[in-house]
Amino acid sequence: MNSKQVVLITGSSTGFGRLFAETLARKGHTVFATMRDPVGRNAKNASEIRTLAEQESLPIQVLELDVTDDASVGRAVDAAVAKAGRIDVAINNAGYYLSGLAEAVTTEQAQRLMDTNFLGPVRVNRAVLPHMRRQRSGVLMHISSGAGRVILPSAGFYCASKFALEALAEAYSYELAAQGIESVIVEPGQYETPVFGNTVTAADQARTNTYGAAKEFPAKVNAALSSTAGNAQEVADTVLRIIEIPAGERQLRYFVSPQKFGVDEINALSRRVQANVLEAFGLAADTKFLKGKAVGSV
Ligand SMILES: NC(=O)c1ccc[n+]([C@@H]2O[C@H](COP(=O)([O-])OP(=O)(O)OC[C@H]3O[C@@H](n4cnc5c(N)ncnc54)[C@H](OP(=O)(O)O)[C@@H]3O)[C@@H](O)[C@H]2O)c1
Repeated sequence: MNSKQVVLITGSSTGFGRLFAETLARKGHTVFATMRDPVGRNAKNASEIRTLAEQESLPIQVLELDVTDDASVGRAVDAAVAKAGRIDVAINNAGYYLSGLAEAVTTEQAQRLMDTNFLGPVRVNRAVLPHMRRQRSGVLMHISSGAGRVILPSAGFYCASKFALEALAEAYSYELAAQGIESVIVEPGQYETPVFGNTVTAADQARTNTYGAAKEFPAKVNAALSSTAGNAQEVADTVLRIIEIPAGERQLRYFVSPQKFGVDEINALSRRVQANVLEAFGLAADTKFLKGKAVGSV
């Protein structure tokens, strides 16, 4: 892999995705900043990114990509490969937060959340992997969350979407290692982005109203999350460092957070348990599990 990478990012209109695009491009990486509807709802965001790219001569191009639409994902990946000849890193960043007591979340809301936070990365990975396999290199990056490792009441479905993403990303890491493709999980704690303003609320208020004191969980959790949020550039700097680590030396998980909660301990324990599991199934050597990939920070 060249030291300058070709990176496709989903959900680049705002927040982390936008910061990743700017941070990586300023270091000379070629960035496809993808977003849904760049001529409609995201026209202003797309135009600001293009203006910045022009002013600072940054290698950023905006492409349309809705992670809930197979055809849209396919078109964006094809366009990026046609323009740059390859995709070295796919950052699965698009996602949103759903707040509310589990019983108050409708099945339609739950399906929509999973369609974005979980099936979105499934679509993107399926579209980029044939190209990465041909290159025999590449990084699938998954922006999970601390909430992909711990559970907050009133965030049950969001946690479920990120737990699902973590499981899939870990499976990819074992299955793809032999082909020179790495799967990496980034677990941010709470950071200041438009995520809180874009939060979807559980629709079934009548159910919520039966919960007594627990009714207040969503408000308490949301207030605590936003009042302790860190500077999102920390996450962008972590992503940059991960991308610049030589191929084959990246860890599976990177937890980055203003508060620690012991998530690193879960990750270290999980790594030991997984080693036992892979060993027991006779897969440790095939998955290259025992090589590299120590748990720690970048
Ligand atoms: N901020 C935090 O504290 C935090 C912590 C842990 C993890 N995360 C994760 O970080 C990721 C980015 O969130 P953020 O904090 O940067 O919030 P954000 O500013 O709200 O960004 C979310 C991005 O996802 C995009 N998106 C949503 N649905 C999409 C779809 N169907 N197709 C394409 N893009 C779509 C949004 O695009 P539109 O503009 O079109 O809506 C937006 O660009 C999410 O996966 C989130 O779960 C955030």
